[in-house]
Amino acid sequence: MINAQLLQSMVEACNDGIVVTEREGEDTILIYMNPAFERLTGYSSSEVLYQDCRFLQGDDRDQLARARIRRALAAGQPCREILRNYRRDGSAFWNELSIAPVHTPGDPRVYYIGVQKDVTRQVELERQLAEAQARLAALQADLQD
Ligand SMILES: Cc1cc2nc3c(=O)[nH]c(=O)nc-3n(C[C@H](O)[C@H](O)[C@H](O)COP(=O)(O)O)c2cc1C
Repeated sequence: MINAQLLQSMVEACNDGIVVTEREGEDTILIYMNPAFERLTGYSSSEVLYQDCRFLQGDDRDQLARARIRRALAAGQPCREILRNYRRDGSAFWNELSIAPVHTPGDPRVYYIGVQKDVTRQVELERQLAEAQARLAALQADLQD
């Protein structure tokens, strides 16, 4: 079994954001964030601790993705979504978010681990590829006319 100190050092050294939240009513509130989460979002723990992570979403919230997350949390299931999020300075990024419930023996509270990965470049390349494919399909249709 890996020791607790080594486990904490690994979480702190991880390049992807890692947060731990605890369920409180309808919300899951932040009780831990690793340094990579602070680098990714620009928020420090003193600013956002005990808030629900939805503070990262702007006005253009993805209702379908949020509903899927709510359903997974209610069912105690893990989930993965790509969401548009905003850093403290207002800049946007695509966040590949992976959430899993965590149960600790002897503790009735429900915790969740969330891993955040910045996939902005990948999403942008996929968008450009889809545009190029659509242009190519339009050109091929023109040629057949
Ligand atoms: C562990 C954990 C981490 C989360 N991290 C993020 C995040 O980085 N960005 C985000 O937009 N939402 C994140 N969420 C999702 C929101 O906290 C919230 O559950 C989601 O928006 C659905 O609820 P709502 O429709 O009430 O907003 C996280 C949720 C959990 C449980």
